Amino acid sequence: MKAIIPAAGLGTRFLPATKAVPKEMLLVGDRPAIQYVVEEGLASDADGVVIVNSRNKKAIEDHFAPDPDLVKLLRERGKDKYADAVEHVGNLPVEFVYQDEALGLGHAVLCAEDASAGEAFYVLLGDVLVPNNKMLPAMQKVSNNHGGASVIAVMPVSDEEVSRFGIIAGTEVEPGVWKVDKLVEKPVLDEAPTNLAVFGRYLLTPRVMELLEDVKPGVGGEIQLTDALEAVLAEEELYALVIDPADGFDTGTIESWHATNKALLD
Ligand code: G1P
Repeated sequence: MKAIIPAAGLGTRFLPATKAVPKEMLLVGDRPAIQYVVEEGLASDADGVVIVNSRNKKAIEDHFAPDPDLVKLLRERGKDKYADAVEHVGNLPVEFVYQDEALGLGHAVLCAEDASAGEAFYVLLGDVLVPNNKMLPAMQKVSNNHGGASVIAVMPVSDEEVSRFGIIAGTEVEPGVWKVDKLVEKPVLDEAPTNLAVFGRYLLTPRVMELLEDVKPGVGGEIQLTDALEAVLAEEELYALVIDPADGFDTGTIESWHATNKALLD
């Protein structure tokens, strides 16, 4: 089972900072944002991480490549703490696939189809960080309790925010767990069935990957992962785990990126 991390986006909201440096490589707390996400994937029961990259974001690959010369130099200079950090990140089992055109989140996930090898898979969006690594195991538990169904993390958001997210409708079947019967990508407030927003952590069955092959461009002209989830509802159950906002940190806007840095450094 793999953890898929889409990372081919343009980082538009962070321009010009992201003109030469991928957004995923911006420092959050003490490491690049994507390193938290990779470490979260590897702390779960996934046996590897697949980053869906674009060809011109080489810095992400350099970050996860071994650099024995740098490690040696640091050790010679007695800087073992830094040598250990460089060695650690170079040893993480990360593989790369490429999304050659920015056709949407669903398309990015589909680019990892071969790597997912017909198994269930996680999708971890880099806009949100979960440094305590507890969310994926909690989602796996919900899936196990419901016959291996897909599970997505959702978070209550304010009325002003619903149009930024995928929003679910359904029934609460046990405290904090909903059986989903509908998903709407970025609805206007009037059309939002709840205030429960898809948060950026997904545990999905292989059927969702198959359905992605047939998803047509939706909201924003993009191939949406949300539309594949809506399609899977006709065939399989889908659950949503309501997460504690304190467990996840949003880095999707400049303001929330600063707030996350402050929270993680405190
Ligand atoms: C994506 C998903 C959306 C989800 C959001 C969470 O949107 O399409 O359903 O709520 O991530 O961050 P994006 O932020 O890529 O526009």
